[in-house]
Amino acid sequence: MSAIEIRGLRPLKGEIIVQGSKNAVLPMMAASVLNRGKTLLNNVPRIQDVFCMMGILNSLGCTCRLKGHQLEIDSSGLSGSCVLKEDMEKMRSSIMLLGALLGRCGEAGVYSPGGCMIGERPIDLHLMALRELGAEIGEDDGDGVLYARVRRFTGKRIVFPFPSVGATENALFAAVMATGRTVLEGCAREPEIGELCSFLNSMGACVRGQGTDILTVEGGLPLHDTHFTVGGDRIVAGTYLMAAAAARGELVLTGLDPGVLGAVTDILKKMGAVIYEDEGLLYIRCQERLLAADICTGPYPDFPTDLQSVMMAVMSLSKGESRIQETVFENRFRTAAELEKMGARIECMDDKARIKGREMLFGTRVEARDLRGGAALAVAALAAEGSTIIGGYEHIQRGYEDICRDLEEIGADIHMCA
Ligand code: UD1
Repeated sequence: MSAIEIRGLRPLKGEIIVQGSKNAVLPMMAASVLNRGKTLLNNVPRIQDVFCMMGILNSLGCTCRLKGHQLEIDSSGLSGSCVLKEDMEKMRSSIMLLGALLGRCGEAGVYSPGGCMIGERPIDLHLMALRELGAEIGEDDGDGVLYARVRRFTGKRIVFPFPSVGATENALFAAVMATGRTVLEGCAREPEIGELCSFLNSMGACVRGQGTDILTVEGGLPLHDTHFTVGGDRIVAGTYLMAAAAARGELVLTGLDPGVLGAVTDILKKMGAVIYEDEGLLYIRCQERLLAADICTGPYPDFPTDLQSVMMAVMSLSKGESRIQETVFENRFRTAAELEKMGARIECMDDKARIKGREMLFGTRVEARDLRGGAALAVAALAAEGSTIIGGYEHIQRGYEDICRDLEEIGADIHMCA
């Protein structure tokens, strides 16, 4: 277990080049097995979840080489289609290998995926889509293992009752390998899905409808090697915007399309932040204490659930009472108890939280319990009086390449501690 220490109230000013997107690169890595050949990805974030996916792909017989931020995956030697239980449990995205391995090998053995403990996180919609397209998937007999096989996926129309990101991605993998046309309706519209469609098209697939909730796939086209650049991480960018908002800083973020953070920048502007957007650039300045606000998380383009706890940290310092409604994951208020240790006043009831903003938070020892909750504690600590020690730093490392480096560069007093 590792920890970081942050001494708060340092003026934050400067520029951060936003790392590549975790939620975009992980499904691309899984999809690389669809083609028996090479995939070259640029702007790959050097985060634990990427290292973990590389480890899984290597254990299946692929060769992954990460040099700087360029990742080469050669899947021509793929020799296995079963993922070990301990590998599956390391992260949620391991479930993307179910559709990808089925598509390539016609069979797959996986376990229930791991990831942040932010709620139930079932995979029924993934299984529904893969079964509809022709896969036979055995029932989990309580040991968590799922065996699946398919002679050939067959394209058809599928309607998702809820826009699940992961289920849309798994269905896309199967549809790309299927004979005929697949129409996926009720798809998630997260920007990372659009990126995945472009990536699949760069491999030779034909996916249309990016950015809408209806994706049409002409399946069974020959795939080939590809070279693709991953976009900037909107959740990391949103975290740093909120760091500037909480600690009253001035920041320029480059390396991402600012349009993908519309729901976040709209709220921050209403709360009093000065924000400008330009091509590939976001500027934020916060000199006054922000005003309270109300947010409700939801599938894109609504406010992202991944930034809900980070926003809770900002609201803990805002003027007045803010309200949050979390509609995506039921366990995403676990960070509230840690923020309260720092002096925040938060009442949580079911899927709603009320935050009475305070003028000041105070440094103490807190524990990151999940990835984004850990980032929220870092944001609170930047704006807190005294020193905060955040345990469970390994959760933050799953998604942030080097939060200490990024924040130190803009003036924060932050370092790893024993
Ligand atoms: C992805 C993101 C995660 C983000 C989430 C929502 C990755 C690697 N992770 O997770 O960071 O917080 O989208 O934007 O991209 N659900 C079901 N059945 C299913 C699948 C999902 O009921 O088969 C429910 C979930 O319990 C949850 C909701 O749908 O309540 C959203 O989940 P989903 O969109 O699938 O999220 P993930 O793909 O797990």
